[in-house]
Amino acid sequence: MPNVTIVGSFNIDHVWRCETLPAAGATIAGQYATGPGGKGFNQAIAAARAGAATRFVCALGTDAGGALAMSLGKADGLDMRAQATEVPTGTAGIYVDARGRNSIVIGAGANAQLSEAFVQAQCAELGHGDVLLAQLESPLEAVLAALRRARQQGALTLLNTAPANAPTSAELLSLADVLTPNETEFAALLARHVGERLQPEEIGEVDGNRLHHLCRELHHGSVVVTLGSLGVFVSHAEDTLRGDGKSFYRLSAEAVEAIDSTGAGDAFNGALAASLASAAGQGVFADHVRFGNRFAALSTEREGAALAMPTREQVLARFAD
Ligand code: RIB
Ligand code: NA
Repeated sequence: MPNVTIVGSFNIDHVWRCETLPAAGATIAGQYATGPGGKGFNQAIAAARAGAATRFVCALGTDAGGALAMSLGKADGLDMRAQATEVPTGTAGIYVDARGRNSIVIGAGANAQLSEAFVQAQCAELGHGDVLLAQLESPLEAVLAALRRARQQGALTLLNTAPANAPTSAELLSLADVLTPNETEFAALLARHVGERLQPEEIGEVDGNRLHHLCRELHHGSVVVTLGSLGVFVSHAEDTLRGDGKSFYRLSAEAVEAIDSTGAGDAFNGALAASLASAAGQGVFADHVRFGNRFAALSTEREGAALAMPTREQVLARFAD
């Protein structure tokens, strides 16, 4: 079984589906649902359903939310490594509009307690061919510790720089072999680390040569920018093409009936990590990205975050080629 370790957040998502996203001062009606989420947990469920032996390293409160995380994680076959804390389990308030777009407010709770020492201990078993994936809903120090440890052990490191307003540092970026920002996060990284100001909506329209150049200025490794309905842009360093034979390209999005894009980025990241792990980090990178793309597309046809993830079999059956 390919091995993926995911370090990140678990949240109880409180979701309201409404016609439009509420404006400041407005009171509107919506349909309520609750379910498991958090970028880390969503990515872990995605990786497991995409076929990887998946370990999930997180911090949970000793409360009903924490217990739910443990039981749902185990039901999906996750190797749950949870640091217990007295702080309540993380929460997210999510509005989803009629077009499937969302706005999210995070209450970090227990996620903010995830410690460097705990993370390091859980990453001790990583080795060559394994994949480590982290996001930025956990303390920066804990994410740094995970990436450092994974590097030392020879694992491939993936960093999903979400959410966009989370702090980042040059060291953080340098510890990732592959960066996977969405267009908003990419714009934020460019502003912060390259001094280049682009609007997130512009990114998908930027000429490939220029986008590649910006990726190279930002990062020494591979950069995968997810662009929603505009697909994915991939940029590699000249000396590490990862089996692609070219240094940059776009892959278009799959046509699906999207009803809820919550967790679509997480679906992509988890599935990409699982696919890379199945080839021990090798293979044709574009094939791994295509699988992630398809996996993410299917996740948008179902309501919710973690529990909306499809399986590897469903993805292969839907996109037969
Ligand atoms: O990426 C989607 C996730 O962001 C939600 O599940 C929510 O919990 C927040 O972490
Ligand atoms: Na979804």
